[in-house]
Amino acid sequence: MPVLRQIRARFAVARPLAGVRVAACLHVTAETANLVRTLHAGGADVRLCAANPLSTQDDTAAALAAEHGITVFARRRVDRSSYDAHVGAALAHRPALVLDDGCALIMALHERAEEVNGVRGGCEETTTGVVRLRQMARDGALAFPVVDVNESGTKHLFDGYGTGQSTVDGLLRATNVLLAGRTVVVAGYGYCGRPVAQRVAGLGANVVVTEIDATKALDATLQGYRVLPMAHAAAIGDIFVTVTGNRDVLTCEHFAAMKDGVILANAGHFDVEIDVPGLAAMAVQTRREVRPNTDEYVLADGRRLFLLAQGRLVNLAAAEGHPASVMDIAFSDQALTLELLAGAAGGLAPGVYDVPARIDAEVARLKLASMDVEIDAVTAEQERYLHSWRPGS
Ligand code: NAI
Repeated sequence: MPVLRQIRARFAVARPLAGVRVAACLHVTAETANLVRTLHAGGADVRLCAANPLSTQDDTAAALAAEHGITVFARRRVDRSSYDAHVGAALAHRPALVLDDGCALIMALHERAEEVNGVRGGCEETTTGVVRLRQMARDGALAFPVVDVNESGTKHLFDGYGTGQSTVDGLLRATNVLLAGRTVVVAGYGYCGRPVAQRVAGLGANVVVTEIDATKALDATLQGYRVLPMAHAAAIGDIFVTVTGNRDVLTCEHFAAMKDGVILANAGHFDVEIDVPGLAAMAVQTRREVRPNTDEYVLADGRRLFLLAQGRLVNLAAAEGHPASVMDIAFSDQALTLELLAGAAGGLAPGVYDVPARIDAEVARLKLASMDVEIDAVTAEQERYLHSWRPGS
């Protein structure tokens, strides 16, 4: 995680978080450990609890405590009451800044009148959390400013590339099919669907895109992909990947039109994009795990449809999710945002804020530096030219 490493080196000298109490509720993984170490190097007094008990890496939690002196309240597979107690213990620290992934910590904080008053601000990592925060802000229930790190330009960029690569990785690990010459239908041409289409096209697949947004569909058309409604694409696809964030993208009507041997995968957040209960009801026979992460559904006329990872995120279930370099970007956005919040004492009203453009630009600059990529600098003359409205400029 070279970007975070550069930030950590600067934080260790400048100590922008000296003495600031931070409570973080994140997936306790090796990548998170690097973020926590960075905040610690910046002088923060961090308490970490888990955003989800199933994602906790116990060895990472233990190493953070034993080798880096961080207080961690997390253990894999704890029950609900222990999990809640862990969140409570992180909050008992009376944090000035909070980091959240799914809004559990911030929600718990709002139930504790004394603790909530001392909070200067926080960051939220995921869409689900941001949706809740925006509703709280709309109802006047949010007590402090929170920055929506999910929407930062650099995070979106890397999320997309990470999803593109790891989705192909999941497809290949689960099926080991040759993509060249196959027709791959990508449903949804957004931040994540676009790189999925690019990656499978690069491996020789014929890509068909389905969309509901005219501009995205136009973009896909200009990229050279065939754009079709799913009702038509269903009959010609060999492999289907849904990545829309929507529900019922592949339904019984589509399964009924599909060829024998098609592969169905989802890379969207929830397992509602492919109608799995509908498929199970249509099938006369279901064979689980014909390969790891591949279930076979046999229809009445003998056609077989292969569903990957039970319709859950294929890149996480059948591969390893985002590479660490994707989390490097998201967590660097978080570290720089916390630095900003620490310095903005009392300056921001409660509400949900975007990551400032200069933080995005700084993360991009550090990433380029870590890749030894140099870019041009604007001259004073160019700067004047770009910002002048006078005729002839
Ligand atoms: P996005 O909003 O940029 O793109 C979604 C696209 O799907 C949009 O262009 C939208 O018009 C289109 N769409 C919506 N309903 C559709 C339908 N019925 N048929 C065809 N197209 C449809 O969203 P983004 O960032 O690409 O995320 C998509 C999903 O992927 C979300 O569920 C997100 O949470 C998830 N995601 C998954 C990751 C992973 O690791 N697998 C990582 C990041 C996000």
